[in-house]
Amino acid sequence: MPNRDTVQEIKEKLSVLDVVQPYVKMMRSGKYWKGHSPFNKEKTPSFFVSPDRGTYYCFSSGQGGDMFTFIEKMEGVDFRGALKILADKAGVSIQAYDGGIDHSFTERLRDAHARAGQFFVRTFTKETPAWKYALSRGLSEETISAWGIGYAPDQWRALLEELTTAGFSQKELLQSGLVKEADGKPGTFYDRFRNRLVFPIRDSAGRTVGFIGRALSESEPAKYLNSPETELFKKSEVLFGIDKAKDSIRTRGYVLLVEGQMDVVHCHQAGFTNAIAISGTALSSAHITLMKRYADNVVFMLDSDRAGLAATARAAKLALSSGMHVKAVALPEGKDPADILSQDTHDFPKHLSEAQSIVEFFLSTILRNEQNRHKQILATETIVIPLLSAIESPLERDHFIGVVANGLGISLDAVRKSLSNRATVAKGMDGVRTSQMEEKVFEGAPLSPVLARAEALCATVLNYPDSALSKRIKDEYLRIMNEPLGDTVSHHALFEVGIALGEQPSPDACDDLIRSFERSVLEEQYEDALAQLRIAQAQGDLDAQKKAEVICSQLLKRIATCT
Ligand code: GTP
Ligand code: MN
Repeated sequence: MPNRDTVQEIKEKLSVLDVVQPYVKMMRSGKYWKGHSPFNKEKTPSFFVSPDRGTYYCFSSGQGGDMFTFIEKMEGVDFRGALKILADKAGVSIQAYDGGIDHSFTERLRDAHARAGQFFVRTFTKETPAWKYALSRGLSEETISAWGIGYAPDQWRALLEELTTAGFSQKELLQSGLVKEADGKPGTFYDRFRNRLVFPIRDSAGRTVGFIGRALSESEPAKYLNSPETELFKKSEVLFGIDKAKDSIRTRGYVLLVEGQMDVVHCHQAGFTNAIAISGTALSSAHITLMKRYADNVVFMLDSDRAGLAATARAAKLALSSGMHVKAVALPEGKDPADILSQDTHDFPKHLSEAQSIVEFFLSTILRNEQNRHKQILATETIVIPLLSAIESPLERDHFIGVVANGLGISLDAVRKSLSNRATVAKGMDGVRTSQMEEKVFEGAPLSPVLARAEALCATVLNYPDSALSKRIKDEYLRIMNEPLGDTVSHHALFEVGIALGEQPSPDACDDLIRSFERSVLEEQYEDALAQLRIAQAQGDLDAQKKAEVICSQLLKRIATCT
């Protein structure tokens, strides 16, 4: 296989413009070049090239990439074919590099993870406490081996020594997240995972990108510990089990989304091989894009606790608005799939068959838990109406409007009015004028306001890396989110932002956007808190109700200062 250096060398010798111009007549346009899309017939040019980044984006067909993807599309060849064409054009010999060792950093990280996985498997012998634990959790030997489950020994530097011997540098080990530097003791390094049952986290191609380790006793402070975000491991892009589940998702036509690693592994062990989980993070649009590669249907299988329900409502909205069909099933209080399956696999299909469309699921949850009619209606407005409005297909939405009207015994018209009120309220809450740029970013993007705005901020930083504007955005993001701004963003957003802001935007060019980002973050938190409040009310839990009320009113105050 050609290595990264070959690709890099070609990119250094050729500009993306050199590659595109024989196919498309291009004109300069600010920091970009533009022309008529080679993929679509169009009157107004919507095909943009960024020589700085070496990428292109076509707004009419919504596709973008670098010179390699461009040649793949234009010449109908695969990556190797494109490599040949471009190597020729650049005068680079591919032969010279074939068989060479790949020194690229990502490849090194992959290698470190592959070796770490082998190490954990090797140390997972039947004498370890982890073995007993795994069996006590109902995992079979076959499952342990199929999932590459291993054991991180109860030592400070076992993996560190293993990987150092294999030639990995300290820097590589630190960046892999497998090794940590001791707090307050610079220069002292130790293994992140110790005395834990370790599950490899794999990407859809089955390559290990991180690990999650289960404590062997309930007295450990952290029940699970996972790899930090690294170049390989991005929590919001990884679905645990997808490499094993993808074929089954395709043939069964739906994703079975459960909550934890144990749940996924147990589902597969019992033959429910389309199960996957997100771990320790909210469902993201990247997760949804990944799921949609294999199926348009998803069944959420949940703990029936309050926080779980609020998170489900949020995740369901996002999935619905990307055109997925969403169902949910709640398991008996306090049970998860692993609990049920490790006792008796017979009950599980029965639960699964009780999955309801997400609208019916929440409607019936509300009607079951709440006798007071006024509260039923309030809860429906907070939780169910937003779901209706997220449904993409008008026909489907109409169907569910009927379901809600029927369920509550109110008129179709009342449900429709509530829906359209919601749309106006949502706009009104946006308050101050949203910048032009934002409106563009929103167009057709199936992102929540928070994600869309975060993406626009991120795209701005990537467009103007060393500017005062970027510094401002990064600082503000850190303040609002308590974590640094990420760097994953679509070609679409990158080009949108670059076009809207031109060559040298002023440091305050994004102030409106930052403010509305903060507001939407708070609004999302408020919606969550409100959902929790309704659920607490429905369950008659006064304590929880009080707590939620306090949080709601604090958030409202902060939202008010944010305009
Ligand atoms: P078991 O107790 O092993 O059955 O785990 P569970 O899957 O039932 O745990 P739970 O429902 O509490 O959590 C669901 C998922 O959230 C887990 O599988 C983990 O991925 C994640 N999680 C739970 N607790 C922690 C934690 O303390 N730290 C981290 N990083 N993730 C956690
Ligand atoms: Mn469990």
